[in-house]
Amino acid sequence: MVNETKPQYSPGLAGVIAGETAICWVDPAAGLMYRGYDIHGMAEKATFEEVAYLLLNGELPNAKQLAEFTQQIAAQRALPDAVTEMMRLLPKSTHPMDMLRTGVSMLSAFDKDLNDNSHDANIRKSIRLIGRISTLITDGWRISQGQKPFPEKPELTQAANFFYKLDGKIPEDWKSRMLDTIFNLYADHEFNASTFAARVTASTLADIYAAVTSAVATLKGPLHGGANEESAKMLEEIGSQDRADAWLTKKLQTKDKIMGFGHRVYKKGDSRVPAMREIGRDLGKRTGKEQWIPICEKLEEVMDREKHLCANVDLYAAPVFWMLGFPPKLNTPLFAASRVAGWCAHVVEQHDNNRLIRPRSLYVGPELRPYPGSPK
Ligand code: ACO
Repeated sequence: MVNETKPQYSPGLAGVIAGETAICWVDPAAGLMYRGYDIHGMAEKATFEEVAYLLLNGELPNAKQLAEFTQQIAAQRALPDAVTEMMRLLPKSTHPMDMLRTGVSMLSAFDKDLNDNSHDANIRKSIRLIGRISTLITDGWRISQGQKPFPEKPELTQAANFFYKLDGKIPEDWKSRMLDTIFNLYADHEFNASTFAARVTASTLADIYAAVTSAVATLKGPLHGGANEESAKMLEEIGSQDRADAWLTKKLQTKDKIMGFGHRVYKKGDSRVPAMREIGRDLGKRTGKEQWIPICEKLEEVMDREKHLCANVDLYAAPVFWMLGFPPKLNTPLFAASRVAGWCAHVVEQHDNNRLIRPRSLYVGPELRPYPGSPK
């Protein structure tokens, strides 16, 4: 047996640098930048397509490039008929994240570039994935509700189209603008769990669909993207601001995990929270549902007092999606509709300069012992 020196071990890979990236930097002191641009200021002004272009290509597009890229994504939104048919075959109770994961995996079979991991082919496949993930979510939702999907409207942006494909109405400009900002806030976050899963998969030289399927599967969990659906349940249970303090204090006494709080990297606040909170306040006024943001603010106050823990973006995403009219089961898929841009950019980066990601584990099992022979 080879004697190994005891390796450094960090449970959950906390603080471990697992690779290099030029795509995104998460500043533990509540900052976030994509390709060198501070997300604040850009998120509220750029369309999601502009940010997706930046993540994938490394530079902001000029007007012509942006128009072309926006049109290319829109032109790829339609799903192969067999994929739509597959969604009809799934039980109506299938969670939208499971439908999405199955859909992404199935889409791979219809892509002629599937096994080409070159840079250009990966960019082409990224454009298809960004367009089609959105359609898998919206059409999948309508099918699960016993309704027919709406025909494509390629003249709409990703944000406007997301609303249209759910209820057949073209949204007001302010609503699309808001969803663009939300998509921009969610678009990338360096080596978060789903992106890391995508990079591990890509590092075996598996294709981009395999990597994005891994990412969707990983995003579903409530400690990651699934938290924004769980936060919605929590806020509904609390119901009003005056109940928040007692509700939270009791949950903390029983050592429950509170969804929408805490973060592996941010310890002084999540860079995305102030913008999401502002959107929530604005929506409260526009929709007359002004009770939700004060509940979140009260929870923040109590959590700071009791545990010194900060809210993360998923706390405020829950009421924001609700007030925008989305059903809570679509909260995590909405996250995926945006994060696909980051996942794809990371797969492109991984394939362009690949090394297999294969860490070690610390063996804590029994000492070497003799095999006693098969039971008689
Ligand atoms: N509720 C209650 N206690 C918490 C929470 C929480 N949300 N988050 C952390 N803690 C506690 C931990 O139990 C730990 O307590 P202990 O020292 O008594 O054992 C302490 O705070 C420190 O925890 P960390 O080591 O900082 O947590 P870790 O980095 O392992 O986990 C995680 C981060 C998974 C995000 C965690 O905070 C959590 O479970 N949050 C709730 C789920 C959530 O909102 N996820 C969304 C993350 S953001 C995103 O994906 C967009």
